[in-house]
Amino acid sequence: MSGPTVWKTPAEVRAWVRSVQQRGQRIALVPTMGFLHDGHLSLMREGARRADVVVASIFVNPMQFGPKEDLSSYPRDTEGDLARCASAGVVGVYMPEPSTMYPPGFQTAVLVEQVSQGLDGEKRPGHFRGVATVVAKLLALFRPDVALFGEKDYQQLQVIARLNADLELGAQIVGMPTIREPDGLAMSSRNSYLGPDERRRALGLSRGLFAAQALAAKGEADVARLVAVIRAELAAVQAREDYVEICDARSLVKLTQLEKGSPARVLVAAFMGTTRLIDNVALTLG
Ligand code: PAF
Repeated sequence: MSGPTVWKTPAEVRAWVRSVQQRGQRIALVPTMGFLHDGHLSLMREGARRADVVVASIFVNPMQFGPKEDLSSYPRDTEGDLARCASAGVVGVYMPEPSTMYPPGFQTAVLVEQVSQGLDGEKRPGHFRGVATVVAKLLALFRPDVALFGEKDYQQLQVIARLNADLELGAQIVGMPTIREPDGLAMSSRNSYLGPDERRRALGLSRGLFAAQALAAKGEADVARLVAVIRAELAAVQAREDYVEICDARSLVKLTQLEKGSPARVLVAAFMGTTRLIDNVALTLG
């Protein structure tokens, strides 16, 4: 199988985009930070269904990491990633150097005001400024018809949908369901940090979320009671909570009560040892 074309500069990407547009073909873009797993591949395969050509970016974006976060240890596997991209039908991968993405003198940032606040926006100051800036750059460069992101990073998905609409970048932003390991753990490149015991205990996150989801489906509308169920599961596996919150599914405004017909989302972030994991599910009041 021949691998995807690797682009290192915006000029190479622009030339390719022009040629594809001249052929009247639709482009799907899957932005990633690499160390690809089945969650990323599901985005690429869906991109192939929705467009004529699928491309990806692999860029560990320094701008979205805090000073004490895992930028230097973030897992990387370029060769494996390119093989996985090829297996999912990706025709080209943009892999710029940080100095290409952010050349000397770079001083522009994209700030999505409301939906970036709270949750990861509060716990990881500057994170969504970095995400929004790099994704805006990628959407402006590729001008994709469709761009696909996982619901695992649910707040990120809302931030990107907002910036795409506000900056009139013209992509259809598609959020795809979280892909889980057979035992329920949400797939994440950061799962590779977990030791065997932490990996087993990490199931407390999804167990708590599914328990809350089932209770809501049975008619429990009280947010405090739903949150307590999740906290009990986190405590049982000695996970250190960063947040457990139930929010309106679009605005991410915090709720105290679920309402029939109003989509809600429960989001959790917790440390398993030194590894920070996030997960979320939809809540529907039954
Ligand atoms: O979800 C990710 O992998 C990153 O946050 C993204 C969207 C590629 C931006 O760097």
